[in-house]
Amino acid sequence: MKTALLDKVEIHLANPVELQVEWIGQEEPMMQLLACWLTVNPGDQPLCPRLVGHPGLGKTTLGMAAARKRGQAVYVLQCTADTRPEDLIITPVLGEKGNIKYQASALVSAMITGGAVILDEGNRMSEKSWASLAPLLDDRKSVDSLVAGISIKAHPEFRCVVTMNEDDSTFEIPDYIMSRIQPAIELPFPKAEEELRILRYNLPSAPEELINICLGFLQKAHDLDLPYSIRDGLNAIRFAQKLGMLRPAPWDKLFSQAISQIVGQDAFDMEDVADRRRREGQHLPNMQLGDFFFDEDSPLNPDKD
Ligand SMILES: Nc1ncnc2c1ncn2[C@@H]1O[C@H](COP(=O)(O)OP(=O)(O)O)[C@@H](O)[C@H]1O
Ligand SMILES: [Mg+2]
Repeated sequence: MKTALLDKVEIHLANPVELQVEWIGQEEPMMQLLACWLTVNPGDQPLCPRLVGHPGLGKTTLGMAAARKRGQAVYVLQCTADTRPEDLIITPVLGEKGNIKYQASALVSAMITGGAVILDEGNRMSEKSWASLAPLLDDRKSVDSLVAGISIKAHPEFRCVVTMNEDDSTFEIPDYIMSRIQPAIELPFPKAEEELRILRYNLPSAPEELINICLGFLQKAHDLDLPYSIRDGLNAIRFAQKLGMLRPAPWDKLFSQAISQIVGQDAFDMEDVADRRRREGQHLPNMQLGDFFFDEDSPLNPDKD
């Protein structure tokens, strides 16, 4: 394991992620993330954007693939509700000889080595933990470790991106932090042609018919703005293929079983589910005036055709 010496304190570094990921299609968010990470002149600072979108659409993958495109090592720090400020920076651990060792987080390891870090699912993290990162996310580009008694300055090549899931487990992140993780880059549902390539790339040995059944399911879900994702589709294909090994059946049957065990019975009446979600206001952005005040069939309903 690598170490670094900072102010005469030995710091043990985390390892970067080894996974080789390739980004398929969806060029707009990739271009935007790479643009954020550029510097346009020697005094310029890179931006730390936030990638937003439903779970399973490829946010973490995009961050890793963008770092890879830049030829940079990538570190992933999984943020949770329990992440404490020191977990983000340096934690003391017991060494072999009973001594205290200082272990750098994925974030600090990226800061020291000039790598890129993904602060993954940052919406889950508390304000207290976010607050410790405020100096890193503005012009100071440094963090303080109270535990090791040192200040750590980011390498000029250090890059950062935060991913955020659009689900209801989101913490209220204070404005002074939100203003430091700008801009927002939206990851939309992929178009059919792109989604087909993503499925094929991730599961090169899956039968074409099964891939197409899955694609039809996902595209219908996207049209209805239901949060079923590429990850759900990939897992359903994998499960259907495995079931088929032990109990052969037509692919549509196997896929139905697989998807219902992955996203639930809702998969079979997506229109009703979409309708219910709209009514319950789970998806306000797509709502029209008529959804708030009127019966669907009321003559007063402005959405009635
Ligand atoms: N454009 C893409 N190119 C390649 N793989 C993708 C793409 N979009 C999604 N995936 C695949 O979808 C799955 C879920 O992606 P992930 O990055 O974990 O989603 P998120 O972080 O948004 O929850 C992964 O297996 C990933 O490889
Ligand atoms: Mg993720």
